[in-house]
Amino acid sequence: MNHPLMPGMQALQAADWSAVGKPSAHESAQLHVLGQATYTDDIVELQGTLHAALGLSQKAHARITAMDLSAVRAARGVLAVYTAQDIPGTNDCGPIIHDDPILADGLVQYVGQPLFLVVADSHDHARRAARLAQVSYEELPAILTPQAAKAAQSYVLPPMRLARGDAAAAFATAPHSVRGQLFVGGQEQFYLEGQIAYAIPKEGQGMQVLCSTQHPSEMQHVVAHALGLHSHHVAVECRRMGGGFGGKESQSALWAAAAAIAAARLKRPVKLRADRDDDMLVTGKRHCFYYEYEVAYDDQGKILAARVDMTLRAGYSADLSGPVATRAVCHFDNAYYLSDVDIRAACGKTNTQSNTAFRGFGGPQGAIAIEYAIDEIARHLRRDALDIRLLNLYGRDGEDGRNVTPYGQVIVDNVLPELMAELEASSDYRARRLAIDAWNEASPVLKKGLALTPLKFGIAFNVTHLNQAGALVHVYVDGSVLVNHGGTEMGQGIHTKVLQVVAHELGLDLERVRITATDTSKVANTSATAASTGADLNGKAAQDAARQIRERLAAYAVKHHGGVAEEVRFFSNRIHVNGQALPFEQVVQQAYLARVQLWSDGYYATPGLSWDAKTMTGHPFSYYAYGAAVAEVVVDTLTGEWKLLRADALYDAGQSLNPAIDIGQVEGAFIQGMGWLTTEQLWWNEAGKLMTHAPSTYKIPGISDCPEDFRVQLFQNRNVEDSIHRSKAVGEPPLLLPFSVFFAIRDAVSSVAGHAVQPPLNAPATSEEILKAVMAVQAAGARPA
Ligand code: MTE
Ligand code: MOS
Repeated sequence: MNHPLMPGMQALQAADWSAVGKPSAHESAQLHVLGQATYTDDIVELQGTLHAALGLSQKAHARITAMDLSAVRAARGVLAVYTAQDIPGTNDCGPIIHDDPILADGLVQYVGQPLFLVVADSHDHARRAARLAQVSYEELPAILTPQAAKAAQSYVLPPMRLARGDAAAAFATAPHSVRGQLFVGGQEQFYLEGQIAYAIPKEGQGMQVLCSTQHPSEMQHVVAHALGLHSHHVAVECRRMGGGFGGKESQSALWAAAAAIAAARLKRPVKLRADRDDDMLVTGKRHCFYYEYEVAYDDQGKILAARVDMTLRAGYSADLSGPVATRAVCHFDNAYYLSDVDIRAACGKTNTQSNTAFRGFGGPQGAIAIEYAIDEIARHLRRDALDIRLLNLYGRDGEDGRNVTPYGQVIVDNVLPELMAELEASSDYRARRLAIDAWNEASPVLKKGLALTPLKFGIAFNVTHLNQAGALVHVYVDGSVLVNHGGTEMGQGIHTKVLQVVAHELGLDLERVRITATDTSKVANTSATAASTGADLNGKAAQDAARQIRERLAAYAVKHHGGVAEEVRFFSNRIHVNGQALPFEQVVQQAYLARVQLWSDGYYATPGLSWDAKTMTGHPFSYYAYGAAVAEVVVDTLTGEWKLLRADALYDAGQSLNPAIDIGQVEGAFIQGMGWLTTEQLWWNEAGKLMTHAPSTYKIPGISDCPEDFRVQLFQNRNVEDSIHRSKAVGEPPLLLPFSVFFAIRDAVSSVAGHAVQPPLNAPATSEEILKAVMAVQAAGARPA
């Protein structure tokens, strides 16, 4: 890939001795490429370890009239079979609302719902046995789509609404409006490492669970409840995940609880590792959304009012659908000031997997609807969509109130005007627009399209209390440092960033600092590593811990070497005190002998946040991350096939903690979001069975789908908030950048009829969907006006 501004060049701005701001390699990069990084399934198994598998429902909605498990019990290698009745504690793994049975109890609500757990001497024996159950069902009517849920008013939670101004009055007087429906499909997280948990019974009812999870503390709570124990009985540990993407925030709980139940019953270690098909059949995904929207605007394309009604496919239970819908509501504005709005969202209860977190957490789904409408406004006014976007951007602080979001947060850090201007220039947008128009004139079958789309993404958990973190830093007598914090590593580089922060604070080389697995017995009551806040929160907590040790060492150094504590400096592995440069380890040894505490805890709670869930107003976000991207595509209008020719992305990571990792996050999110909007299609048959439950039928982007010309840069900025070293979060927001790909495809399709017709394009824009849109545009374009 092509990086005109190499990470190394950006890093020149960071001082030589600084451990932050440098493009350090991922702390596990070498282990990853050598195959030596330990994932949960690589942990050496204890003697006597057993293997479990789940028996799954074959019906979308039914009462179980009989379940004959005798053949399962009799199968080769089987030691035990457990159903809901065998759970010692509570049969629930729901993260917020307790409507998520670990094992179905009499009622099944989707194809793939776990019914029973079989434990055998090998993984293969357990899986083979699980298929031998004889289950009789009395079928009930099933609701499968958000539209059907809406028609039946079938919801997992009460619908929510955020309104400001008087949208109805604005619609009544507005000169123009667009209205329509849009369907945007869901997305499978497709982490490379599937769900897995390894439960090990300990003395006195203790239970250790090693599992792949973004949320060790919640796994601890769910396991404790399922076993009828207290939290202090259960320890959950995760060194790393092979990807989480939101899919291991709440949905790792089922696997952790099931393994722990079997381990507790049998008093033996039990591992439960999902096969890919089971993983996809059992777990929830990104919510698909059905929208009804209406946007009023003036002759220039300025938006006067907007209405949207979003229905999510929540699946059979609430899971995280409420928070996902809330984030969708709070991101409907995307980058635009909407004076008079009426935003509604409802979590449709369907007989499908319970949908959950996925990178962006509803934010992308909220924002794409307004972008769709803006795209239509531009086409109707025969203007470049970029101009309509620029016209509607949020204003500056104090600029006639055009900087207040519908939920009441004042935007004080909007850099989009500069950022988009920079990208427009660096991508040569205007000239390429003209060149594409000319190219399309001369090309009857292949059509090119171009789009530039912005993003604004709020950083913090909407739920205020989740915005806290803790860390532990140990300095050993030999001067080496060990760090532990509440965040989890899923490939995004949180551990690398936290190591950089601690090394920087103590003035050490990165190699002198090591990180250990996230562990509920080290840092307690942690929040999920989610909402892109991992490095922000845990970086600050680790900094707090390291700073306390530094201050103690500085005080000690002054006592023994003279000078003043404020002037002691820590850099280049030395402590600089009163004109001397003492090796770090030397001062540490002396401080130990003088009985100075060389380890510390650290804590951080994001200041200034508030949120009223009833009125959907407050100051839910600490700050906003910004970005924009330009995509150019070519579409074959005979087949619907397409190719991304070039993509330029500019992302505001503030003062980046690690430009190499941040650019990697932008690239990864861009391609992952492109998959969501183009090739990744979830398809359930009429009986409600997910038929796309393996890579053979579910197409994630491959290396050949990456654009040959891919230019990712970080926007030079500094967080106005006092975030960790003035950086900004990067995990999720860039997932909105490939909106540019979707709208470039729509632009290419619309060129078929001279941009006079609105192409009815839903997401994912698969080749089939594109071809349908081309044919619709051709038919409408041919019709006499
Ligand atoms: N990057 C990799 N490589 N793997 C992942 O699973 N998850 C994303 C993002 N980037 C993910 C990733 C999601 S959904 C989130 S919320 C953030 O990382 C979480 O990490 P952070 O808060 O430390 O950025
Ligand atoms: Mo990310 S969807 O918040 O785990």
